[in-house]
Amino acid sequence: SRTQDVQTAADGATSKPSIGAHPPINNSVRAWVEAKVTMCQPDRVVWLDGSKEERQRLIQQGVKEGVFIQLNQQKLPGCYLHRSNQNDVARTEQLTFICTPNADMAGPTNNWMETRQAYTKLRGLFTGCMKGRTMYVVPFIMGPAGSPLAKVGVQLTDSVYVAVSMGLMTRMGDVAWKQLAAGGPEHEDDFTRCLHSVGDVNPERRFICHFPLDNTIWSFGSGYGGNALLGKKCLALRIASFLGFQQDWMAEHMLLMGVTGPTGEKTYVTGAFPSACGKTNFAMLIPPEKYQKEGWKISTVGDDIVWMWVDKESGKLRAINPEAGYFGVLPGTNEKTNPNAMASMQKETIYTNVALTPDGDVWWEGKTDVPPPQAIDWTGQPWTPDCGRKAAHANSRFTAPATNNPALDPAWDDPAGVPVSAIIFGGRRSRTVPLVFQAFNWMHGVYVGATLGSETTAAATGAQGVVRRDPMAMLPFIGYNIRDYLVHWFRIRKKMSDCPRVFHVNWFRKDDQGKFIWPGFGENMRVLKWIIDRSRGRAYAKETLLGWMPRPKDIDLEGLSITHDDLEKLQAVEVEEFKTEILSQEEIFLKLAGEMPKEMVFQRELLVSRL
Ligand code: GTP
Ligand code: MN
Ligand code: MN
Repeated sequence: SRTQDVQTAADGATSKPSIGAHPPINNSVRAWVEAKVTMCQPDRVVWLDGSKEERQRLIQQGVKEGVFIQLNQQKLPGCYLHRSNQNDVARTEQLTFICTPNADMAGPTNNWMETRQAYTKLRGLFTGCMKGRTMYVVPFIMGPAGSPLAKVGVQLTDSVYVAVSMGLMTRMGDVAWKQLAAGGPEHEDDFTRCLHSVGDVNPERRFICHFPLDNTIWSFGSGYGGNALLGKKCLALRIASFLGFQQDWMAEHMLLMGVTGPTGEKTYVTGAFPSACGKTNFAMLIPPEKYQKEGWKISTVGDDIVWMWVDKESGKLRAINPEAGYFGVLPGTNEKTNPNAMASMQKETIYTNVALTPDGDVWWEGKTDVPPPQAIDWTGQPWTPDCGRKAAHANSRFTAPATNNPALDPAWDDPAGVPVSAIIFGGRRSRTVPLVFQAFNWMHGVYVGATLGSETTAAATGAQGVVRRDPMAMLPFIGYNIRDYLVHWFRIRKKMSDCPRVFHVNWFRKDDQGKFIWPGFGENMRVLKWIIDRSRGRAYAKETLLGWMPRPKDIDLEGLSITHDDLEKLQAVEVEEFKTEILSQEEIFLKLAGEMPKEMVFQRELLVSRL
């Protein structure tokens, strides 16, 4: 099925192009790189090995090109600022395509392009696009080396920002060639082909195309993380979700954390919240002092993506984080809300689209209560607090290696993964949806996840603050038909002897004055404790129409300024309001028309009858 992909090699070159000095590679890799060099026509090809010295060279190259601005090395050693093109600051879902022979494979929630048409269209853009530029060959592994689920990818890119970022976000370099070779000659083809060019960073000529049947990604015209670091959303979610569907595992937009209780008992929990809805913050949570004294401790395995499979021996769900770094939201992040994130970005970090202060430090809205008296804003313009503009972009981000995180879980790099005891879905809802409830069972949990709604944020372009259905927080990331994706969730249950408990949280409910009622961040530990206890079969819960809920007294509020009355408000489910909510869940049912899995239809009938 790779005929289209290699066509250029045949019709283009008469002699083999120079692919530069390279490490030992197999014939599949060689043929693919040669074909892409022929097509893109870079001036030179540089193969990355993943060493520290190489990283320094790339950063210096980036500084020379103006791609990186060196920050104050006393304060922030190894840290750099990157300003993206102003039209290129978030994922562009309208320009993201699943390319398959027929539209049904992509399904009603994806943009679809027919495979040949997509290759033809993008070949037009890629041809000659690297003239005068360097092509970096970036080999990487998603997942711990040696893990049965780990996947090798190779990204060709003309962006030094992307090359350096891939070094932070993945296990990058020679280690990937080793992993590929370990698969033996019959698997030499077993790598995701990732082709990327920033092109002229023109939104009119921007396409993020996925070819799941070819294990191939072609991304043109954007340097933004989610569009350009192809190991992340493109490979580890869109391509991986399709592979998981075929091979009986799951790729999800989830955080993964370890929760250690007072007795030393450790429970691993995943959480699927849509973009900019609190995964990174929850994954790095520091418990309130009282809980710390009791012995509660949180450790991070991952903050954005989880791959899960059913362990044959135990029948339990296990999980790894395929990434090796964090690409985290900056606005609102500070020493109070997320000290572990702050600590993670003190060295070897790339800051994207934040303000630069006169002393070579960075600033973003919410970093400190008092803004700096002056700065250069994310667009490079002089900025003062009263100028009426934001200093940092609302989707400004930091890119930092996981090993910087003081709360990194010891098993974060374990090829065998960790067992999952609870799955938490969550959205950003100012009304209607309670702070926490537990689904009655897996089937109901899948329904709760599939009907997840959240107010849109700056992480994707488009209107913000509108409630949109975002099934499992995966709407922008399911690489195939959502009908099959939901069936997959139901099917996975049959492979498990004992399944994780499923929950739903909402940290974002507001009062009549428009203020968040729940304090959030570290205080989310109080809700998490109930979730852990429920997963272990210990805590009390009352049955409600939505699922199992704690009584107000089951959530400890000691030391908080909110009362049990506030908690009643946070947990309130207004039946009339919820009828409207169910109607708005129709959105996803309508998209699937008659193809909604029958389990979903059944769960909705049960919910309606509980009303
Ligand atoms: P992606 O990385 O885009 O997938 O997003 P994410 O889910 O990791 O979101 P993140 O943790 O970065 O949080 C996004 C925004 O929500 C930040 O501005 C946070 O300050 C804010 N936030 C996170 N947790 C809470 C919370 O518990 N309460 C409130 N009120 N805000 C929160
Ligand atoms: Mn994300
Ligand atoms: Mn995040």
